[in-house]
Amino acid sequence: MFDGFYKGKSVLVTGHTGFKGSWLALWLHELRAHVTGFALPPNTEPNHFDLIELKNMVHHIEGDIRDLQAVTQAFDKANPEIVFHLAAQPLVRDSYEDSKTTFDTNIGGTVNVLEAIRHCPSVKSAVVVTSDKCYENREWVWGYRENDPMGGHDPYSASKGATEIVCAAYLRSYFDKNGHGSPLGFATARAGNVIGGGDWAKDRIIPDCIRALSKGKPIIIRNPHATRPWQHVLDPLSGYLILAQRLAENPGHFSGSWNFGPVEGGQIRVLELAEKFIKAWGGGNIEIPPSQNKAPHEAHLLKLSIDKAMNELHWHPTLDSASAIDWTVEWYKAWDNKKQHLRAATINQIHEFEKKREVK
Ligand SMILES: NC(=O)c1ccc[n+]([C@@H]2O[C@H](COP(=O)([O-])OP(=O)(O)OC[C@H]3O[C@@H](n4cnc5c(N)ncnc54)[C@H](O)[C@@H]3O)[C@@H](O)[C@H]2O)c1
Repeated sequence: MFDGFYKGKSVLVTGHTGFKGSWLALWLHELRAHVTGFALPPNTEPNHFDLIELKNMVHHIEGDIRDLQAVTQAFDKANPEIVFHLAAQPLVRDSYEDSKTTFDTNIGGTVNVLEAIRHCPSVKSAVVVTSDKCYENREWVWGYRENDPMGGHDPYSASKGATEIVCAAYLRSYFDKNGHGSPLGFATARAGNVIGGGDWAKDRIIPDCIRALSKGKPIIIRNPHATRPWQHVLDPLSGYLILAQRLAENPGHFSGSWNFGPVEGGQIRVLELAEKFIKAWGGGNIEIPPSQNKAPHEAHLLKLSIDKAMNELHWHPTLDSASAIDWTVEWYKAWDNKKQHLRAATINQIHEFEKKREVK
């Protein structure tokens, strides 16, 4: 899929103990890259990182992204050519409870990664993962474009909007100059809500479904009518991988910011997603508690325009929402029956995805 680009390359992934980062690190390993991961230990039980035994496949470094020295040391050890920065506090609700940790981790942590990149001559391209929530949300019915204003109502969204502004300043001030001998390919990637096997984060709909269904309990849905651009985790990850490759090949052209989301129609309501999940799982119930007036504000309507990535990167979503749900259920069924090797389950889906993408 990537014409052997990643084979033998040194790649640093921050946040490799998390949901998206563990899928990305395993995919890079399958592409024969030498992967170094930098993150805190996994913070859910169970978690994808342990279930796929990723520690045995990558150079695993435990450290805090808020610690500049620790981040710099990881770069010194890995000498990466490519960097994917995913480490973050990614939950809106947690950001209301602990805004300082969210801002320190998401903005300050990214500044540390950018400083390490600045002083690491081996880096040829870097992708910083932010979020679709970085945009000033106007509850528009149409999709946000890359040049729409940044914003953020809650601390998480604001931290991602601010991260975007910080990244744009580093790009203009340092990375498109000749500090590295040649310009560095540098971009931010904004994706919507992702689903897939191996996520157990709190306050996310699929982990909530799986926690309830595996115990035979009803799924409690607090925000049934919120609409999100759901995607299978492999779709945005394929975008990040294509982007980092293009950045290394032609930094001047591809540096900037990129949206990765589903095609029109992939935006479905939380309630609909849970109903489809139950159908694919083969049973289960939903409970909607009376609306809580004191619940913290969350965006209701959020869409991304993906025209830029489709036209310029030739990236496109590979799985529609029905397939994304089926693949997710298939993975959790493998986990639920306890007999299957879960690294194999993840790798099978990666290979299946690559095949589907080739024929599209
Ligand atoms: N999951 C989604 O739907 C979604 C949607 C849009 C954007 N994102 C973004 O994608 C990225 C990955 O999200 P995820 O869903 O995999 O989250 P996750 O919580 O599963 O993983 C987060 C990772 O960041 C690491 N991390 C957190 N604080 C750290 C610190 N102080 N020092 C070092 N490492 C730290 C964790 O150890 C973990 O490896 C995040 O930047 C998130 O904001 C996720």
